[in-house]
Amino acid sequence: MKVITLSNEKGGVGKTTMSVHLAAGLAIKGYRVLLVDADPQGHATLLFGLPKEPGLHDLLVKGAPFQKVLKVIPPEQIEIPGETVGGRLFLLPGNLLTREISRELTDLRTIRDKFRQLESALDVIVFDTSPTPSPLHAWIGVATDGVVIPTLCEMLAFDGVRESLLHREVFVKHKQSLNLPGIELWGIVPTRFKSQTLEHPDMLEQLKAAFGDVVWTPIPDRILWTEAARAYRPVFSYAPGTTAAKDAWKMVNRTEEVVFNAAP
Ligand SMILES: Nc1ncnc2c1ncn2[C@@H]1O[C@H](COP(=O)(O)OP(=O)(O)OP(=O)(O)O)[C@@H](O)[C@H]1O
Ligand SMILES: [Mg+2]
Repeated sequence: MKVITLSNEKGGVGKTTMSVHLAAGLAIKGYRVLLVDADPQGHATLLFGLPKEPGLHDLLVKGAPFQKVLKVIPPEQIEIPGETVGGRLFLLPGNLLTREISRELTDLRTIRDKFRQLESALDVIVFDTSPTPSPLHAWIGVATDGVVIPTLCEMLAFDGVRESLLHREVFVKHKQSLNLPGIELWGIVPTRFKSQTLEHPDMLEQLKAAFGDVVWTPIPDRILWTEAARAYRPVFSYAPGTTAAKDAWKMVNRTEEVVFNAAP
């Protein structure tokens, strides 16, 4: 089981959109996936049309069993018409009570140990996180095998990337103190990319110069992504065959390659 965390300490860069798409895409491809909504905004929960609930909070603070808090996402919601969903998708919802978790937990290992209980039932867990740093990020960091950092090709978003990378180093130290392996940097993903601007291509070059191959193919800004969100569906099931759907698949395939060493 692999644990992927999506992070960027800048808001609105596409973390939740990407979490939902890579979770749904990997489920379509046959993986057993859990998406954890670890942002008090509860946006990953909302993107599946589900009510915000204290799922993560109840699991960690109240000791609720996984069966009580996990939601099954029906395959019909993510499937591409005419194709079957090969795996399964579960969601652990969140709401404002997620903010309280930090106050209640003291042990760095708690979140890791809790989710490792699902080792034989799942292939991958995806954590969607909030842009605001918090102790919860540190505990999720200890549970994380690798991070993917979506970013706009804009100055403030790059600052968010830098801050996230600095915090990753701290979380790696926490993991080392617990004799756990480090945290991979699986990808920095330019999102909502506008090739016709001067700023985005220029900033993309800067990103590539600094990080090289870790920078993935940019995901262009297209209206279909917001339309699909309004329909509570991933873009590849809302508008299969479109350029936006193809962009989304490229991102899912790259995730599969880096996380599972799958052939491209
Ligand atoms: N490729 C894209 N093209 C157009 N719009 C997009 C694209 N990707 C994401 N969006 C839109 O951008 C907005 C912000 O995305 P999202 O909520 O995923 O960002 P976030 O980083 O999770 O934000 P926050 O930091 O508040 O949690 C949403 O309205 C989403 O639909
Ligand atoms: Mg979000």
